[in-house]
Amino acid sequence: MSDFEITALVLAEHEIFRRDFGALEDLTGQELADAWTALAARLEVHAVAEEELFYPLLAQEADGEEETAEGVHDHNAIRHAAAAVDDHELGSDGWWEAVRNARQVNADHMAEEETDFFPPFKDAVDDEKREALGMRWLAFHDEHEEAEGLSGEDADVAEVVATEVPEGDPTV
Ligand SMILES: [Fe+2]
Ligand SMILES: [Fe+2]
Repeated sequence: MSDFEITALVLAEHEIFRRDFGALEDLTGQELADAWTALAARLEVHAVAEEELFYPLLAQEADGEEETAEGVHDHNAIRHAAAAVDDHELGSDGWWEAVRNARQVNADHMAEEETDFFPPFKDAVDDEKREALGMRWLAFHDEHEEAEGLSGEDADVAEVVATEVPEGDPTV
């Protein structure tokens, strides 16, 4: 299995989130503002990519409608927690409290995906398809750098469950 298998790529980005939330603690001023903006955008790209490429198949092929509903609910909670950061003055106590809350909500969600959602997904979706999805995951990130073209709006569970995921590797 190559490094481009989709759950490996999702996991790699989870590790980046863990690192980048920690790295904020060492920053101040404009560097802190820029790092938070980049991290918040990346959280949104990650969430939408999962809603388009991971959760529909978890629901449709791994009997995971309930898990999908939970994942989408979590994504919306992460969206709200990240948006709440901007209600505070950069670097203030309230700002840090909001960032740490977003970090915790995201950390709990990532752990649940890794522990409870990846295994049934990998059982249900074969290697070749997961590799093709990995290529789509990378292409999606290229297309939506800095969350360009994404609304940041809440996702809808029924829509995610009903999403048709294209078959095959987009690059061949
Ligand atoms: Fe997620
Ligand atoms: Fe994730």
